[in-house]
Amino acid sequence: MKRLVVISNRVADLTKTSQSGGLAVGLADSLRQRGGVWLGWDGQTANSDENLEPQSKQVGDVTQITLPLTRRDYEEYYLGFSNSVLWPLFHYRLDLVEYKTDYLEGYRRVNARFADALMSSLHEDDLIWIHDYHLIPLAAELRQRGCKQRIGFFLHIPLPPPEMLSAVPRHRWLVESLLQFDVIGLQSQTDLNNLQHYIEQHLSTEVSAEGHVRWGDREVIAGVYPIGIDVDAFVEMAERPNDEVLIETRRREILGRRQVIGVDRLDYSKGLPDRLRAFARLLELYPEMRKSVALMQIATPTREEVEAYVEIRTELEALSGAINGRFADFNWTPVHYIHGTVPRDALAALFRSSQVGFVTPLRDGMNLVAKEYVAAQSMDNPGVLVLSKFAGAAEDLREALIVNPYDVDDMARNLCRALTMPLDERQERQRALLERIRKRDNANWLSNFLATLEHEISPPPLD
Ligand code: G6P
Repeated sequence: MKRLVVISNRVADLTKTSQSGGLAVGLADSLRQRGGVWLGWDGQTANSDENLEPQSKQVGDVTQITLPLTRRDYEEYYLGFSNSVLWPLFHYRLDLVEYKTDYLEGYRRVNARFADALMSSLHEDDLIWIHDYHLIPLAAELRQRGCKQRIGFFLHIPLPPPEMLSAVPRHRWLVESLLQFDVIGLQSQTDLNNLQHYIEQHLSTEVSAEGHVRWGDREVIAGVYPIGIDVDAFVEMAERPNDEVLIETRRREILGRRQVIGVDRLDYSKGLPDRLRAFARLLELYPEMRKSVALMQIATPTREEVEAYVEIRTELEALSGAINGRFADFNWTPVHYIHGTVPRDALAALFRSSQVGFVTPLRDGMNLVAKEYVAAQSMDNPGVLVLSKFAGAAEDLREALIVNPYDVDDMARNLCRALTMPLDERQERQRALLERIRKRDNANWLSNFLATLEHEISPPPLD
């Protein structure tokens, strides 16, 4: 088996297992099993340019190479181009894009440093797999340094239509950089269609039905590889008794109360204000629901130095306060809003004891919380997943109640439907959803992508 070299901006601590989901956890599981190299940012900012040497440590079969960013790199590459230009743009939020030329320069500079750090550790027949929007130009940087190995790229976030993509200065350079990879993996068919349209409109070349693009002397394959979770590990975690969650659950059972749960990074792409409004609308439209249901929303702080994140936090705090002020009683608080992190094992137990998983992003690459919620349910008495049609997961998880996250009434009606759904319908949906998340689990994502990268085997068609 070829050695796998993974590069992502953020590197998970491989010695810990209790982390919240997302890119880092999925990759950590894969690498732990297969072994290899993982290179990325160490999460620190160095004050000077002097001590930027990569550090290397061995964790099991994985060599972890990390490098710090300078404060300027952090501002221009991470907060700037990655999270104030590409993140909002790729999530269809042109209104939130804040572009500066310095950001682009910082982005290129850090990608060049990642390439320098990587070159000296590469073996001739390594498979290189680069992840996410922070590192789009990395293959081009590596090629300039003579790297001949096959290089794959996986975009964890959505890819917007050409009309939006072309709003970013140097968009053509960005997509041409993407074409320096051998394989471009995307989360959903929508993302692949958008890339195809861009290539056809702006680069005047064709993408074949199999996703092949001829670009100069290169043959690039673009395909859909929906990311998944390690279902058995999550089921096992959800079934493990968690005393604190158990006490809360018993209390709710005695009071005859149900719980709707939402768990997200506190990001404007997650649709949190309208989610809270939809819950308030449920209480308005169906007064009989008052006192018999509460929303637990866990919002994990993220990218707090970017203005748009400060604003969304303020908005949510005001909104949850206003809803509680309006509906709460001395013995019932409708919205339990948590601005913080909850350990992964407690989350799994919370999912299992909640009657509705409420996942309503305005735009999301995949959304693994939706899959984790499904994995956590018991077949005896499963909860219902209410899922935004704009999450990548909605292309697959069709037995969820699919909602429009911009339509507060639609979400409120579907919440009511979920809370009153008969047991046999819940079980039928749960059975189908569980089968789907098993079919496209983490191992499947990994092996399909690597089969294309290593052997040029196209991914299995989506059904
Ligand atoms: C998303 C992105 C990841 C990123 C994660 C956390 O899942 O796709 O690349 O690592 O958010 O964001 P942060 O900015 O804290 O790394």
